[in-house]
Amino acid sequence: MHPTRFGGFEHSMSRILVTGGAGFIGSHLVDRLLERGDEVVCFDNFNDFYDPSIKRGNISEHQKSSAYTLIEGDLRNRADVAACFDGPIHQIVHLAAMAGVRPSLDNPGLYVDVNLRGTVNLYDEAIKVGVKKIVFASSSSVYGANEKVPFHEDDVVDHPVSPYAATKKAGELLSHTYHHIHGLDITCLRFFTVYGPRQRPEMAIHKFARLIDEGKSLPMFGDGTTRRDYTFVADIIDGVTKAMDSCAGFHVYNLGESQTIELRELIAVIADALGKKAIIDQRPEQPGDVPRTFADISRAKEELRYAPSTDVKTGVNHFVAWYLENVKNNP
Ligand SMILES: NC(=O)c1ccc[n+]([C@@H]2O[C@H](COP(=O)([O-])OP(=O)(O)OC[C@H]3O[C@@H](n4cnc5c(N)ncnc54)[C@H](O)[C@@H]3O)[C@@H](O)[C@H]2O)c1
Repeated sequence: MHPTRFGGFEHSMSRILVTGGAGFIGSHLVDRLLERGDEVVCFDNFNDFYDPSIKRGNISEHQKSSAYTLIEGDLRNRADVAACFDGPIHQIVHLAAMAGVRPSLDNPGLYVDVNLRGTVNLYDEAIKVGVKKIVFASSSSVYGANEKVPFHEDDVVDHPVSPYAATKKAGELLSHTYHHIHGLDITCLRFFTVYGPRQRPEMAIHKFARLIDEGKSLPMFGDGTTRRDYTFVADIIDGVTKAMDSCAGFHVYNLGESQTIELRELIAVIADALGKKAIIDQRPEQPGDVPRTFADISRAKEELRYAPSTDVKTGVNHFVAWYLENVKNNP
């Protein structure tokens, strides 16, 4: 292994298991890891939460690399998970999960099976072969309807308002337990709404862009004054790789931009980037939605040297450029 310097931390080239590596965030992480010289094992079940052909597209470049191995399997299946450890693994980034707040209201059992049972399967198999270092994808949703802003890692997060959020909080708790009992080094990263090229098609910015572009009305839940901290995917990947390189003990970090925008204004920014008008269909607020998210990122800045740099207008312009080239003109 040859040490190199990345983001200020010593980095040794390693073989990394990325669960959910065919998804939105996972495929960007794999891009970055291959680029910096790591070997990658991607574990994904290509489920149909959204069109699996999108996920196949996400990994098509990765598959050209000899440093990349794909293992198709399901976190819920112990033998599938064990297959990830047939070769050496130095570190795990655990991104595979059922994501999304609203669908979790309809199918909480599935969220528990994948996000909790699946996580236990992964950690137990990791212990068997002595893999110690894990980065776990948590979520800003653990803050529930927290009124104090910005959200800090030390805030009480005992009141999740969706099954999805409850599974992410429980994932953090399990991570702590495995750290305590088995000595695993685990860093939990609370991602604040991530967007950018390859964003999941049902997520706000992607969905709004599509509807505005097609001249269709877009459903806006609530009066448009809810605020979100949107994080550009390249900034998230910067935070994930820094967390990987400093992974020791048990830690929880917020990864956001630490800037918020109102929903109504976000829609205007997307419409502007597309050069079109948004037709808004106002609907009642949805159960499970939170009024605002806003990350205090001082801990990640100080301890990880996390340095997000993409404001939402710049990020939306990048997204729209990608959307027009890759989705609209190449469906
Ligand atoms: N996108 C966001 O804004 C955001 C915010 C907070 C947290 N997160 C978390 O980040 C992670 C990645 O999110 P994303 O937006 O890239 O979602 P995604 O759905 O694009 O990626 C998740 C991947 O996991 C895979 N997967 C799901 N269930 C699996 C199973 N049982 N076995 C194997 N693979 C399985 C999916 O096929 C998918 O490719 C998730 O854990 C999510 O909860 C995302």
